[in-house]
Amino acid sequence: MTPAPRVPLIIYRGISKGFDNKEVLEGIDLEIYEGETMVILGRSGSGKTVMTCMLVGLMRPEAGTLNVAGVDLTQLQSDADWRELRLKTGYLFQGSALYDSMTVGENVAFPLVQHTDLSLEEITRRVHEKLAQVGLAEVESLEPAALSGGMQRRAALARSLALDPQIIVYDEPTSGLDPITGDEIGHLIRHLQEALKVTSIIVTHDLRLTEMVADRLALLFKGRLVFLGTFPEFLQSSHPEVRRFLHRFDQEKEE
Ligand SMILES: Nc1ncnc2c1ncn2[C@@H]1O[C@H](COP(=O)(O)OP(=O)(O)OP(=O)(O)O)[C@@H](O)[C@H]1O
Ligand SMILES: [Mg+2]
Repeated sequence: MTPAPRVPLIIYRGISKGFDNKEVLEGIDLEIYEGETMVILGRSGSGKTVMTCMLVGLMRPEAGTLNVAGVDLTQLQSDADWRELRLKTGYLFQGSALYDSMTVGENVAFPLVQHTDLSLEEITRRVHEKLAQVGLAEVESLEPAALSGGMQRRAALARSLALDPQIIVYDEPTSGLDPITGDEIGHLIRHLQEALKVTSIIVTHDLRLTEMVADRLALLFKGRLVFLGTFPEFLQSSHPEVRRFLHRFDQEKEE
C-alpha cells in the first residue's frame, strides 16, 4: 500500500520581516505537514520567535504569504477573522509567561474564560484534564511562584492546551531548565504528540531536545533557512552553521 500523501498544514512562502532597517527574515519558505513535529533551530536573535509569533498574529510579515489550514494569515484584517485561528493554535511562550497573580488552575482556565462560552463546571473539568495531561494534578490552587521551573513550564503548557489546539508552538520549552528536567519536558512533548496527534513547531537551540522530538528540523541563519531535513541528515550536513551547532553539541556532551 502506498502511504497517504502528506498534507502541508502550515506554509511559509517568501516571508520577510525587518526592524529599523535590519532584515531579520529574508524570504522564508517552509512547509510543515499535518501531524509533524518541526524544530526551528537558530542562535539567539536569528528570528525564531519572530517567525513563529506570526502564526498567532502577534507580528505581521512585510512580504510573502503565510497559510495555516487553508487560510492566508496575511489577508486577515479584523479581530473576528483572527478569532477562529487563535483557537487552532496553542502557544507556549518563551519563559512560560504565567500570570503571577492567578493560581495555576486560573491560568489554565484563562483562555477558556476568554474565548469560549463554556459553563464553569465544564471549565473546571477541562482544567483538571489539561493539568493531568501534563502530570500536574496536585497544584491547581497554588500560585506559579510556588512551583519549580519545570512545573511552571508544564503549567504553561497546560494553558496552551486548554482550547484543544490543532497546532502547538513551543518557544524554547527547555531554556533555563537543568538537563534532566529538560528531558522530562522532551518526553512530555513526545507523549502529547502521540496522544493528541497535533502539529507542533518547537523553537529551540537545544540539540538534545531536537534529537528527541523532531520529525524534521530547519536551521535559521542570517535571515534564511540554511538546512531542512531529519536529525540524521543534519548530522551529515556540511553547512558551516550546522557544523558550528554540532561542534557545540559535542562539547556539551563532554561536559
Ligand atoms: N518588536 C521588535 N522590535 C524591534 N526589533 C525586534 C522586535 N522583535 C524582535 N526584534 C529583533 O529581531 C531579531 C530576532 O528576534 P527573535 O526574538 O525572533 O530572535 P530569537 O531567534 O527568538 O532569539 P532568542 O533565541 O534569543 O529567543 C532580533 O535582532 C531582535 O532584536
Ligand atoms: Mg526567541
